[in-house]
Amino acid sequence: MADSSQSQQIEEGRKLFAVGCSSCHGLNAEGGGNGEGEVAGPSLIGVGAAAIDFQVGTGRMPAVQPGAQIPEKPPVYTQAEIEALAAYVASLAPGPAVPAEESYDITNVTDDQIARGGELFRTNCTACHNFAGKGGALPNGRYAPSLMDSTPRHIYQAMLTGPQQMPVFSDQVLQPDDKRDLIAYVVALQEQKDPGGFGLGRLGPVSEGLWGWLVGIGLLVGVAVWIGAKGVKVRRTDAD
Ligand code: HEC
Ligand code: HEC
Repeated sequence: MADSSQSQQIEEGRKLFAVGCSSCHGLNAEGGGNGEGEVAGPSLIGVGAAAIDFQVGTGRMPAVQPGAQIPEKPPVYTQAEIEALAAYVASLAPGPAVPAEESYDITNVTDDQIARGGELFRTNCTACHNFAGKGGALPNGRYAPSLMDSTPRHIYQAMLTGPQQMPVFSDQVLQPDDKRDLIAYVVALQEQKDPGGFGLGRLGPVSEGLWGWLVGIGLLVGVAVWIGAKGVKVRRTDAD
């Protein structure tokens, strides 16, 4: 029973893919378009369900026009359709699965863990996304987007799949607990931007001055560490 509903979902995804994605990604997701297509998209063999959920869930896909970077927009597909597309692409080759909900559930994260997430954020993310998570420009008209509206699920998936210029932070590099704490920190930043949202108090009895100092030092360290670590990070080449 489970098997037949799964194969039905895959079949449904295959049809959605043929209509909405194959013009750029090829009829069998092998990449390159089908001849009628406008823009050649990369092969999706092995990108995994997480990449589909991220790309279609943030509205980046289906792309509407070529450009240095494909922007976010309101999602075109329903969550059920996204799951079908993801099941189809995952059926072609193994790749990162959509993370389980508890892996990005931050309701019980402590202040200490948020602070730890802040360290991880400054080490791994601020070089591109800015210490406040507001995003920043990259060479060739590209940019690291602001994280102020990113959901925990998409933050997790972005790390797992490394869209475009972003490195992949696999669960070996940043373990699930690290990712959870980091996500909790980004959510704390998001809440901080709203006047009347949480203040610095939530992070414990740290004065604003000290906090600013920590962020500043963290940024410097983060950039240094990131530059140092960049050389050893492995990146799929087919995503470019
Ligand atoms: C108009 C052409 C076009 C259409 C239609 C399109 N894509 Fe894409 N897709 C691209 C391009 C180009 C890229 C590379 C984007 C980049 O590097 O910014 C891409 C990237 C992706 C990626 C990221 C691959 C990776 O390595 O992480 C996924 C996943 C994806 N597309 C899924 C889809 C799905 C699913 C659909 C259908 C709902 C779709 N795309 C429709 C052009 C397209
Ligand atoms: C080398 C630069 C770079 C680093 C380092 C980097 N990112 Fe990114 N990130 C990007 C780029 C570029 C994109 C946009 C990709 C696209 O649009 O296809 C992105 C996209 C994202 C998104 C999607 C935003 C959205 O809601 O659409 C999230 C979330 C994200 N990054 C989180 C992180 C986190 C967390 C870290 C640290 C663990 C990190 N990034 C490190 C460059 C980077």
